[in-house]
Amino acid sequence: MLRQLIIYHSTHGHTHKICLYMQSLIKNQRIACDIKKWNPIDSHLPVGYTSYLFIMPVKYGKHPVELVRLLCRESVMLQQSVTGIISVNLTARKPNKASSQDNPYLQSLLSKLSWSPTHTAVFAGALNYSKYVWYDRFMIRFIMKLTGGPTHLNTNIEFTNWTAIDQFIDTYLQSAKTISNQDISIE
Ligand SMILES: Cc1cc2nc3c(=O)[nH]c(=O)nc-3n(C[C@H](O)[C@H](O)[C@H](O)COP(=O)(O)O)c2cc1C
Repeated sequence: MLRQLIIYHSTHGHTHKICLYMQSLIKNQRIACDIKKWNPIDSHLPVGYTSYLFIMPVKYGKHPVELVRLLCRESVMLQQSVTGIISVNLTARKPNKASSQDNPYLQSLLSKLSWSPTHTAVFAGALNYSKYVWYDRFMIRFIMKLTGGPTHLNTNIEFTNWTAIDQFIDTYLQSAKTISNQDISIE
């Protein structure tokens, strides 16, 4: 039986919103799906799940370092499961940086792993200056200016392509179901 766990990190809430949306899509297919906010003191992954989705945002060019370390440490278990790694970042709002192959942050993360996730995806995140402390607001605004993004302080935009998330979850679950059926027929 399929049992899905989504592990996520989120500072300003947008990645959490994506997780909740994914969980609702998965549960609509009558598949058990738990969500867990990743805690830096967690040294191991929870066991008892057939598939693991990791969703994490980029901050100042990096995914959460301790979460990436956990992905490295748990390589044996993860390479035996159905897995998905999803990066959420603002660079992915640009069409030429929106795929797993073209997104530099996801590529950098994958290069650190000794195993290959079954699925990967990149989704554009949110920009909401009112949620940031002054330093982050200043820095993100500066980066937006350099990269042709919105700089008005009232900006509150979700660049996320929700239809692409629907498609990702469809493909992901199809492969999770296929692998889980193969396991059953081998037993
Ligand atoms: C302080 C800060 C730093 C960020 N650094 C980057 C970055 O280096 N590259 C990028 O593409 N997006 C960057 N972003 C955009 C976030 O990845 C995006 O806003 C994401 O939706 C945040 O997810 P969260 O709301 O779950 O924390 C940054 C956002 C903030 C607030």
